[in-house]
Amino acid sequence: MILSSATQLDTPFKKDVFEGLTSEPKFLYSKYIYDQAGDKLFQDIMALPEYYLTNCEMEILTSHTQAIAGLFKNEATGFDLIELGAGDGKKTKVLLKHLAENRFDFTYKPIDISENAITGLTRTLAEEMPEVKVDGETGEYFEVLERLQHFKSRKKVIMVLGSNIGNLLHPRAIQFLTKLGETMNQDDILFMGFDQKKDPQTILDAYNDPTGVTAAFNKNLLIRINRELEGNFDVAKFKHWEVYDPQTGTAKSYLVATEAQHVRLKSLDLDITFDPWETIHTEISQKYTDKIVAWLAEASGLRIENSFTDSKNYYKNYAFTKVRESKE
Ligand code: AVI
Repeated sequence: MILSSATQLDTPFKKDVFEGLTSEPKFLYSKYIYDQAGDKLFQDIMALPEYYLTNCEMEILTSHTQAIAGLFKNEATGFDLIELGAGDGKKTKVLLKHLAENRFDFTYKPIDISENAITGLTRTLAEEMPEVKVDGETGEYFEVLERLQHFKSRKKVIMVLGSNIGNLLHPRAIQFLTKLGETMNQDDILFMGFDQKKDPQTILDAYNDPTGVTAAFNKNLLIRINRELEGNFDVAKFKHWEVYDPQTGTAKSYLVATEAQHVRLKSLDLDITFDPWETIHTEISQKYTDKIVAWLAEASGLRIENSFTDSKNYYKNYAFTKVRESKE
């Protein structure tokens, strides 16, 4: 593939799309699904009856609120509650309400890549729970990790809900957990949701809804490329396809070309050809067991302190602490 000198891969999006669509087999990163339309489609996914993850986590936060809040508490200094990927904060509000009603001393620091999400959440919290101190920030996960280093003056609780970690392959997940651990002090807590292995059909159904919302979410990648990189993908000539491997616990999303076709991305000066039934791999959604989570924790210098599950054991939230460094 030869790039003309006028074409510059001057943004991470351009670079990643170029790399993914010139690779064999082709791939795109799922993080690029989330533009404004993608955010909205993800909200719609969370409301689907098949997408059990949201309700399960809501049930956990609702039925174990007191125990979870007990883990967060620090009588002496209070704490900072830092949520990565806060979104609309619907689930978190259950915890915030309890913390506020019981006069916990804390500041809620939601962080999200979407500026819209942070302003919306800050506004609704000011209306619904004016007593909660909110200090939101916009940024990408790995980028904000740096900033977390500065939260040292009092206990911090880092929260990542929604099984968002499942969109990372295990090596990346270990890297992410390790980096989170590096920002943690002995007393700090990492509170994280992990979707569990279960009947493979239940998992497939969650990523393959009959109304086509998940398909539209997946195809939003192509729509975004068309808009932002002057592409001419014919979205109707791609099919959303989901597979789940019950052995590894990995659900994988693909876009499959239903016929041979050429696509041009003008801003990358790139022509791509698709054979009939050629795939673009777009997303992984990893499912876990206690053993796998314990392995990830150990590999990342973390220890599981506690875990909470829903009535169907579909989903778990784990509280991790940092393994004490041995003094030599
Ligand atoms: C955000 N993430 C955890 C979702 C998941 O379950 O992997 C994204 C998603 N993809 C399809 N449906 C939902």
